Amino acid sequence: MKKTDLILILDFGSQYSQLIARRIRELNVYSEIQPYNIDIKKFITSKKNYNIKGIILSGGPSSVIAKNSHKLPKDDFNLLIEQNIPILGICYGLQLLAYLYGGKIHKAKVREYGHTVISIDKKSDLLTGLKNKLNVWMSHGDSIQSLPDFIKVTSVSKNKTLSSFEYKKENVYGLQFHPEVNHTECGTQIIKNFLFRICKVRNLFKPSSFIESKTNEIRQKVGKDYVLCALSGGVDSSVAAILLQRAIGKQLVCIHIDNGLMRKDESKKVVELFRKNFNLNLIFIDASNAFLTKLKNVFDPEEKRKIIGNTFIKVFEREAKRIKIKKGKIKFLVQGTLYPDVIESVSFKGPSATIKSHHNVGGLPEKMNLELIEPFRELFKDEVRKIGIELGLPDYLIKRHPFPGPGLAVRIISNVTKEKLRILREVDDIYINELQNYKLYDNIWQAFAVLLPIQTVGVMGDMRSYENVIALRAVTSKDGMTADFYQFKKEFLTVLSNKIINNVRGVNRLVYDISSKPPSTIEWE
Ligand code: XMP
Repeated sequence: MKKTDLILILDFGSQYSQLIARRIRELNVYSEIQPYNIDIKKFITSKKNYNIKGIILSGGPSSVIAKNSHKLPKDDFNLLIEQNIPILGICYGLQLLAYLYGGKIHKAKVREYGHTVISIDKKSDLLTGLKNKLNVWMSHGDSIQSLPDFIKVTSVSKNKTLSSFEYKKENVYGLQFHPEVNHTECGTQIIKNFLFRICKVRNLFKPSSFIESKTNEIRQKVGKDYVLCALSGGVDSSVAAILLQRAIGKQLVCIHIDNGLMRKDESKKVVELFRKNFNLNLIFIDASNAFLTKLKNVFDPEEKRKIIGNTFIKVFEREAKRIKIKKGKIKFLVQGTLYPDVIESVSFKGPSATIKSHHNVGGLPEKMNLELIEPFRELFKDEVRKIGIELGLPDYLIKRHPFPGPGLAVRIISNVTKEKLRILREVDDIYINELQNYKLYDNIWQAFAVLLPIQTVGVMGDMRSYENVIALRAVTSKDGMTADFYQFKKEFLTVLSNKIINNVRGVNRLVYDISSKPPSTIEWE
């Protein structure tokens, strides 16, 4: 099997590190972010299925001239040069490279933040094929005062500040501006030049080779033992289950738990799909009563989330104990962890503040003494979707909007009751069907309805009504971290409003949520 080419991003604390990785992955090139202080030698030898083709040093908040600022050890730098691995420094990364070559860095007279225009030297390798003048995005307080003669300056900003350099002999390149942000004109072209012209990346990330190498890896790890999978029917757990089935067949045991908080007919559809079309070893548990009883009269969102998370763990644990296995034992648990979560937890900056307690299957492995299998630890969501398509999962499942672990409970503001669930399910079903009819579903990251805890007065067939208000939400986003509300046309909203209010008993008013994230969040609770 051909090795996949890899670009390693060393993170010096930039807010854009993840964006660099995304931009590279969008070009089907595999990239990984690691803290600046990893053992590079060890990393290179540990990546047996990959060729390290280039290194990017990210930006960062510190100043190279500050005493204890983060540095790349000289030995690591020399090792990369010896192995002729191209290096690109961005912003702080550029200054670090200048420093390593003995250049001088000083506090800039004119600090550059935001847009600026640079003039490019035609002979640059990294900036080849671009216009003479480029509008780029800067964010730096320090700048280069002097560089050794052998390093060639390839562009300067309108403030006469160095904005890029190259040292071709050692395959070292620096950019003072950020090619990864959208505000930089031709940023993608610059990244392409680095990847394909300088690093000579050829073996792209292919879903088929990912599947082959992951299934081999999983087979070796699991041996004759068994693996458990909590299959919710969302994209990540579905793709993980089918990948595991491909690897270990009947040694995979899936459990789907209906917590009573799923959408209309959702559990039924999930179970049917996976049993009939994929012949999956799937246990179905209807635990709706247990969940709804525990949620009775609970109003606080965090309390709801915790109850649902804990009940899930209890039900799952109980059911797992009942499973009879002929030989071997259940030793592993599959989890659909994605790369953004991994980056957050390995970042040397430490984890961010808890806004909401997210509920997946956290807490299970320790309680049940299970080892984790996380096949998508290195992937972004769009890549998991590509794997799912390659594995033959239906389009509608792959393109489904994300659905939170606590389900409709966090879309019913205040306490959850069966009647509120009925109303919300019906509204949600009409909303999603209409989005599909109008071919809007795939343009939207996530759309859903929220049942508000207020009644309002209406008039229906000359009679006064006093019924519930529904808020509709639809957002566009790349990864759920930031989001904008979707701008529907009036025609669509009119059709939707008539359909919902005329068809769902218990609703007489509809409002549309026009907030973005931040400052709001996507879900209401
Ligand atoms: P917020 O509301 O924090 O949501 O802006 C961001 C994304 O995460 C989803 N979400 C969850 N997903 N378990 C999940 O698996 C959860 O507990 C959970 N809470 C929110 C949300 O739907 C959105 O896509």
